[in-house]
Amino acid sequence: MEPRRRDHRPERQGTDVPGRATGRALVIGPYLRTHKDGAGNATRGPQARLEEAVGLALAIDLEVVDTGIVMLNEIRPATYIGKGKVEEIAGLVKAQDIGLVVMDCALSPVQQRNLEKEWSAKVLDRTGLILEIFGKRAQTKEGVLQVELAHLTYQKSRLVRSWTHLERQRGGFGFLGGPGETQIEADRRVIEERIARIEAELEKVKKRRKLHRASRARVPYPIAALVGYTNAGKSTLFNRMTRAKVLEADMLFATLDPTLRSIELPHGTKVILSDTVGFISELPTMLVAAFRATLEEVTEADVILHVRDISHEDSEAQMQDVQDVLRALGIDEARRGRVIEVWNKIDALDADARARVENMAARVAPDNQPITVSALTGEGVDTLLTAIEDRLAETRIVIDLVLDGTDGAGLSWLHRNTEVIARATRDDGKVAVTVRADPAKAAQVRTRFAGAIALP
Ligand code: GTP
Repeated sequence: MEPRRRDHRPERQGTDVPGRATGRALVIGPYLRTHKDGAGNATRGPQARLEEAVGLALAIDLEVVDTGIVMLNEIRPATYIGKGKVEEIAGLVKAQDIGLVVMDCALSPVQQRNLEKEWSAKVLDRTGLILEIFGKRAQTKEGVLQVELAHLTYQKSRLVRSWTHLERQRGGFGFLGGPGETQIEADRRVIEERIARIEAELEKVKKRRKLHRASRARVPYPIAALVGYTNAGKSTLFNRMTRAKVLEADMLFATLDPTLRSIELPHGTKVILSDTVGFISELPTMLVAAFRATLEEVTEADVILHVRDISHEDSEAQMQDVQDVLRALGIDEARRGRVIEVWNKIDALDADARARVENMAARVAPDNQPITVSALTGEGVDTLLTAIEDRLAETRIVIDLVLDGTDGAGLSWLHRNTEVIARATRDDGKVAVTVRADPAKAAQVRTRFAGAIALP
């Protein structure tokens, strides 16, 4: 292993963590030499995987003082990595006063406990790290509860280990602080009680959200949802498109909960834009479940904008990760026609690379053509807005109606349930209305206003 010195100093350092944990972290990428993805393709290289793990560590304000890659031929049951490496890292931990070692892999509780003993430092694996980030980023009540539930379930599975603690530190969910040894039985009871309470609370929140969603469903605008690998530029693009201010940072998971804004497209179509969470690779299954609620906006969206950082060397692998998550959510087949690929960050490409990328985009069939943009400079964004409008027009139906001038109830129904794109009172006192709606609502319009549909 060749550790490389880094100087990633977060604004806030975790020096308030008591005991031996200093907030000074070492990030280790223990990767199997034969790492393949589910489809049998080699995924991103070890260096890129390590970079991503470092990004995750920085997202929870750890001070990453060193990093290293350990290439493995096999996983050791007791310590994941080989004995020699364990000792080498122990030396590093001591020499650099490391309080926490992040292992970018999934450790069993036993492996975790053994490593913590060997290194006299806390060890966080990838799931633990992601949970910390989720906890920090969750914004809605439901998001917070869901993350905490996932976290408690994870903790429960880990109760055999020595560093189990329930105290919340620094607004996180307890992995990075606490007193060390606790009584396992008492812990288990506390965790189970807490799980039961959270589940009950979640039920309540879910009911409330259902009501909320029902009222929003009455807003007859279509929804366009932004999805994409973390750091692809979703928030930047969202801001560019809406001129709204949402939390944006060169950080992973700047947006755990969807943010909604409505915008007007070039030809006047109104659309609700929804900025969702960043996806990352190897998302643990239980976290996909925690994601589900935040991604409901996506499953129901009329158009899905898959934002890709086309300047990233792992762009292709990132795309596959996003598609995997979408598939896990049951989106991909039914919604395929609604996905627009947005190739972002073209400003970051040199002239040659840019020409190559634009060529590549141009070769894709027209109904599926990716849109190249720069969220940073705004280039291509108008084309994107038009593409969204065109895509919506394919699924939304326009209906002309002539209503009686006195049919106030009918008019107000139309305003609540469809997008009214034109309305004029005629000389004969009748009201001509043009509405646009998705196929389901259009069918309702036809039934409800059967006698009022204007013939072409
Ligand atoms: P998550 O919330 O982690 O999922 O990230 P995100 O996809 O919302 O990415 P965000 O908008 O926060 O952008 C990530 C980084 O990429 C920021 O530093 C942006 O300034 C940068 N960025 C976004 N769009 C562009 C672009 O078009 N060109 C360049 N050069 N950088 C960009």
